Amino acid sequence: MAGRATRRTREVAEAFVRHMHAFAREVRLTEAEFEYGIDFLNRIGQATHDLHNEAILFSDVIGFSTLVCLLNNGNAGATETASALLGPFWRMNSPCVANGGSIVRSPTPGPALFADCRITDPTGRPLAGVEVDVWQASPVGLYENQDPGQCDMNLRGKFTTDADGRFSFRSVKPAGYPVPTDGPSGDLLRAQGRHPFRPAHLHFLGFKEGYKTLVTQVFVDDDERLESDVVFGVTAHLVGNYRPGKGTPPAPDVTGPWYRLDYDFVMEPGAAKLPRPPIK
Ligand SMILES: [Fe+2]
Repeated sequence: MAGRATRRTREVAEAFVRHMHAFAREVRLTEAEFEYGIDFLNRIGQATHDLHNEAILFSDVIGFSTLVCLLNNGNAGATETASALLGPFWRMNSPCVANGGSIVRSPTPGPALFADCRITDPTGRPLAGVEVDVWQASPVGLYENQDPGQCDMNLRGKFTTDADGRFSFRSVKPAGYPVPTDGPSGDLLRAQGRHPFRPAHLHFLGFKEGYKTLVTQVFVDDDERLESDVVFGVTAHLVGNYRPGKGTPPAPDVTGPWYRLDYDFVMEPGAAKLPRPPIK
């Protein structure tokens, strides 16, 4: 690598090879295990298509995505961060929704949720004009792209913060769900004896020129799996206060229990750059 490789390429490639060799030495990797590993990698690629990203899922379930997130946010891991892993289910081009609108596009079970959120800079100044993608799984446990029972883009929407940095929307209270286990990542979880569940959460992605793109999740505070998230995404900072609604619901069609969520996000100055969408 002394010839053309850039310094950074040399640094990364050299460390990657060194750690791979050290890994094989440490576990005295057998030939059968080597063949299994090669097949495992190939199956990650074969399981990936427009609607599913097995490579991100694999990175998520071994805690690698969260590690990279924490290394690159919150002053390189020194302070609390509002960021969390992207996960395999973000889609570009979610339909725009007016503030206060609903992201429930086809019949979806679960209690109604009314979310009021605000985005500021680190000094508390409201950030107007932030484009915010919101996405979540249906309480049946699947994202719309995994589930023919939901219409296209169900439980997805793009909002824009107002002059006070606020955006608000209606949805359903999220429920926990298992990550897909029909591919190699599921084989790994079974071999490790781990459960495949994520605690209930909403996903958010905030984009505004001049600010580091905020990728995060807000977790439901009464979920029993907050401390055993299969993808290690939960931090205390990201646990939201999902309060049971009291009195007259904000919309006349709400029957039964409903919830409110108020949550404030901070975006740090930096480069606005969208991640590569894991799926189309
Ligand atoms: Fe999710």
